[in-house]
Amino acid sequence: MTTIPVKDAWKQGALLSEADYAAWYRRSVEDPEGFWGEHGKRVDWITPFTKVKNTSFAPGNVSIKWFEDGVLNVSANCLDRHLESRGEQTAILFEGDDPADSRAISYRELHGEVCRMANVLKAHGVQKGDRVTIYLPMIPEAAYAMLACARIGAVHSVVFGGFSPDALGGRLAGAGSSVLITADEGRRGGKSVPLKKNADRAVEIAAKAGQVVSTVLVVQRTGGDVAVTPGRDIWWHEARETVEASCEPEPMGAEDPLFILYTSGSTGQPKGVLHTSGGYLVYAAMTHQYVFDLREGEVYWCTADVGWVTGHSYIVYGPLANGATTLMFEGVPNYPDASRFWQVIDKHQVNIFYTAPTAIRALMGAGDAFVEKTSRKSLRVLGSVGEPINPEAWNWYYKIVGEERCPIVDTWWQTETGGILITPLPGAIALKPGSATRPFFGVKPELVDSEGGVLEGAVSGNLCITDSWPGQMRTVYGDHERFEQTYFSTYPGKYFTGDGARRDEDGYWWITGRVDDVINVSGHRMGTAEVESALVSHPKVSEAAVVGYPHDIKGQGIYCYVTLMTGEEPSEALKKELVAHVRNEIGPIASPDQIQFSPGLPKTRSGKIMRRILRKIAENDFGALGDTSTLADPAVVDDLIEHRQNKE
Ligand code: PRX
Repeated sequence: MTTIPVKDAWKQGALLSEADYAAWYRRSVEDPEGFWGEHGKRVDWITPFTKVKNTSFAPGNVSIKWFEDGVLNVSANCLDRHLESRGEQTAILFEGDDPADSRAISYRELHGEVCRMANVLKAHGVQKGDRVTIYLPMIPEAAYAMLACARIGAVHSVVFGGFSPDALGGRLAGAGSSVLITADEGRRGGKSVPLKKNADRAVEIAAKAGQVVSTVLVVQRTGGDVAVTPGRDIWWHEARETVEASCEPEPMGAEDPLFILYTSGSTGQPKGVLHTSGGYLVYAAMTHQYVFDLREGEVYWCTADVGWVTGHSYIVYGPLANGATTLMFEGVPNYPDASRFWQVIDKHQVNIFYTAPTAIRALMGAGDAFVEKTSRKSLRVLGSVGEPINPEAWNWYYKIVGEERCPIVDTWWQTETGGILITPLPGAIALKPGSATRPFFGVKPELVDSEGGVLEGAVSGNLCITDSWPGQMRTVYGDHERFEQTYFSTYPGKYFTGDGARRDEDGYWWITGRVDDVINVSGHRMGTAEVESALVSHPKVSEAAVVGYPHDIKGQGIYCYVTLMTGEEPSEALKKELVAHVRNEIGPIASPDQIQFSPGLPKTRSGKIMRRILRKIAENDFGALGDTSTLADPAVVDDLIEHRQNKE
């Protein structure tokens, strides 16, 4: 595999050199107290910390605390401390779905808006520790809402605007939120998304689950006609006129919760990943600075949605803590056409661009002409996140988009990790297409076999992290036992990522994808169990098994094996009905790609579904089904193969 050495141009003005990386990394793992004690000072503390690290991965006693006696406010770190030095600098550059719609919001303006929203929340009774759910499109108000919560010590739970009313309702109830912030409608690709309508239904669903939502703050985005419930719904544009543009930041303990973010796992319903204030902010800001080699005055654009962790750490908290200019894009990569990303880069002179492999593959498919008609001269660093990037897409990104001028940082991390764990650093680490390269400071990756035996040398295995870093999640909201069970019980004493990886002869890390029942569809993480539970909630479905299979654009597609209730007939119409049902239950991101009606599923004699076989069939890999001798009824497999959808 080709190695691309660090070019001289990337070294020029770079924050760190190859030698710096080696020295910093060594210190970070040999003396984490000293290293993080120093870097913890990069944020402003109301009361400085005296303790740095207090963490344990020990079975039955997992506890993670960083900077625990420090007191700070995250929103003050993102806003107030920049006012003197960069109050008039653009904090958020908003680019609407419509190319004619864009505006710049300075740090001073952002501070004012956040304070106003904080005051509106306070006026409606929101206090420190209360949970506020945010269901907004990619508009600046999403950042106002997150920072307003942080300012008053409320814990936000952002729910991606593409989730269904059911999914939102479940998350409102799970977080115990009595306040919801939403918009009338969103705009994506020239179409409206009925957020308020969904929110209204979600509030009813939450009520059935015992959670009363008493306040719905509504941002007017499109001016579309929406229902208003008097006494409960408040228009943001009206409420903001009634409050002051200043609000004292609440002093928060470093370990006070900052946010909950629901994410999918291999079993059960999505869990609320809890991140706290001090360690998270230090880690998000530090990774954002060094991974992107951030320079003063640059324009930085991450195309993620604030509904995902990438939007939290690398659109809002990291960049704003660093006083950067962060671009927020409301739209989609192919509207009005497949040149949009590159046109936005030229329009706003973007220097650092961070996107997902699925978008790169889709735009690569649209043809080079859409890229080549734009300049892109402002670009200096390119980033990738969310799923493994195949070398073909990597090379296209490197050669066509970046014209071999820009290093690509392929950043591996997870909702749980709060920030980037394995990544190149632009001036410091030679690149290999498809490899996330080296661990960030303080990160100790390890490969283990399925019995937990530690693997050395150039080898593939299950990826664990053996010690804590400041951005690590602290618990599953309301269920610490599930936290320990999910992440620390498979390989006791280690954080198990759920990913497989390979370490090559140069010690470079190659993430190969999930080794559990989580699939990654267009960079969106999904539990196969969630899709199965949506399918079996349909009255005609008796049983369902869902697996991922390779998909050219999405990375993985969703393949569903469905057994119908006795007497129900398979049909194309029923397939459509089931797809619509899943979209309705979870959201469009969970749309099944393939549905195969199967009279039976391969099970062991004890009744366990043999997913390994289902995965192989979905992958069109019939020759490698492995041991089928434990099957209760081997004939089931022949039938499944015979009826494989789009058999190759
Ligand atoms: O499988 C890995 C994949 O995305 C998973 C985490 O998903 P989520 O929590 O939604 O966070 C996505 C954004 C950080 C991981 O377990 N993943 C993420 N980044 C990469 C990746 N796989 C390979 N290479 C990456 N750069």
